[in-house]
Amino acid sequence: MRTASWLLSLAVVAAACAALPACSADPETPEEPSPVPPEAVTKTPLAPPAGDPFDVPLTRASQAERDLFFAGDALFELPLRDADGLGPLYTRTSCGGCHASGVRGPGAVQKMVVVLADGVTASDDQSALPFGHTVHPLYTGGGKTAVLPPDGQGLNLKITTRVGPSILGRGYVEAILDSEIERVAAEQAQRTDGIHGRINHVVYASEPNPDTRFHAHRKGDVLIGRFGLKARIATLDDFTADALQGDMGITSPLRPTEVTNPDGLTDDLKQGIDVAIDSVNVRSMYVRLTEIPGRKSVTNGAALFAQVKCNTCHVPSMKTRSDYPIAALAGIAAPIYSDLLLHDMGTDLADGIQDGEAKSRDWRTPPLIGLRFVKTFLHDSRATTIEQAILMHRGEGSEANESASLFHALAPADEATLLEFVGSL
Ligand code: HEC
Ligand code: HEC
Repeated sequence: MRTASWLLSLAVVAAACAALPACSADPETPEEPSPVPPEAVTKTPLAPPAGDPFDVPLTRASQAERDLFFAGDALFELPLRDADGLGPLYTRTSCGGCHASGVRGPGAVQKMVVVLADGVTASDDQSALPFGHTVHPLYTGGGKTAVLPPDGQGLNLKITTRVGPSILGRGYVEAILDSEIERVAAEQAQRTDGIHGRINHVVYASEPNPDTRFHAHRKGDVLIGRFGLKARIATLDDFTADALQGDMGITSPLRPTEVTNPDGLTDDLKQGIDVAIDSVNVRSMYVRLTEIPGRKSVTNGAALFAQVKCNTCHVPSMKTRSDYPIAALAGIAAPIYSDLLLHDMGTDLADGIQDGEAKSRDWRTPPLIGLRFVKTFLHDSRATTIEQAILMHRGEGSEANESASLFHALAPADEATLLEFVGSL
């Protein structure tokens, strides 16, 4: 969603601050209060609000939470500039650039890795990629060199795309109990059909968040990963700080250092840490407070979804923590259609990248949320219909082979019902 102008977005930030501890009305420039934070002065004013059915606040959100949602939405869409600390490396200037109105794309991140002759196993020698596996195509703020795939002779480089996924309903995902994820993993371990989802145990990489209502994790804590296409991050504030740093070159109190870059720069045109903690937390709150779009009921849809085993990985609902700080999401059955576990999806979908304990062929079951607003599917948007997405679950070694084949074998009328059901989730 877009607000009519930066002026309105400012007013909303100010109003919402009452609801967030330690929040200032001027989130990107807390030391020098000015009526207009530099990052809000965009050359092109934001587009007027269009009928925007995707990202709406939780139906049961309080008034204070609704205010925060709109403040966060405005920051999520706001393009940042050099003066805000953009760079030295960046890929897009706003969260919305890759998650337009909270759904997939248009922006994407490219990954690169040196692979063995099989094309999917990462080589032990990654010395051709001294700046890591993420392509950083743009630079500014003093940077002069992008990080692009090298074109070395005889280098067996695999380049893949991760399109910014939908972030709708992710508060429900964050609220789910660790014990639920562990229970589902343990149940799958007993199965005899090869579906064995695994938890991605990941290391918390941010500084502690001074707002400890959602968690009090410290650097080095080992947690259950649930966000990212390979479940590499555990919490939404950590993900937001990671995205600010990695995708936009914006440092924050949670991620205070610039990404290592070819120019050896440790800062950009804005000295020191680029944004205050509120900038991270208000954007995270928007993601947390985004509702799961309404679903229509499709007769026999859920039964077919179970019959062909989609529900083994796309678990229709999981229980949430009773102490989750957003009351509307605490102690409920969250209808996310995911087990949040990693599954071996075979060689065709493999990208060669290791994220925590996730390997080349592993992907986290994506929540099936708001699919009627999504136009492309799978991590790199390679499918343009849901039917294609299901058939592409098949591949050498994929845990989903049997399920996709059962789908393929359905009578045409049942297949149509199942597709209608999934398309309405
Ligand atoms: C350059 C494109 C790009 C930008 C800019 C970007 N993202 Fe993302 N986002 C992605 C991609 C790609 C993924 C999947 C990443 C992965 O698997 O590691 C992702 C994943 C996410 C997720 C996890 C969703 C899930 O279901 O696991 C969240 C939350 C998120 N982004 C929030 C943000 C926020 C907040 C911002 C702005 C601070 C932002 N993103 C900016 C591309 C982007
Ligand atoms: C073994 C676990 C597993 C089973 C069984 C399974 N899926 Fe998936 N599904 C996944 C994973 C993992 C992905 C992500 C793959 C990727 O992005 O490359 C996915 C992706 C999807 C997507 C694309 C979502 C998006 O946002 O792009 C849809 C739609 C989907 N599955 C529907 C189904 C349906 C319908 C069935 C039953 C016929 C099914 N899945 C069976 C694990 C599974």
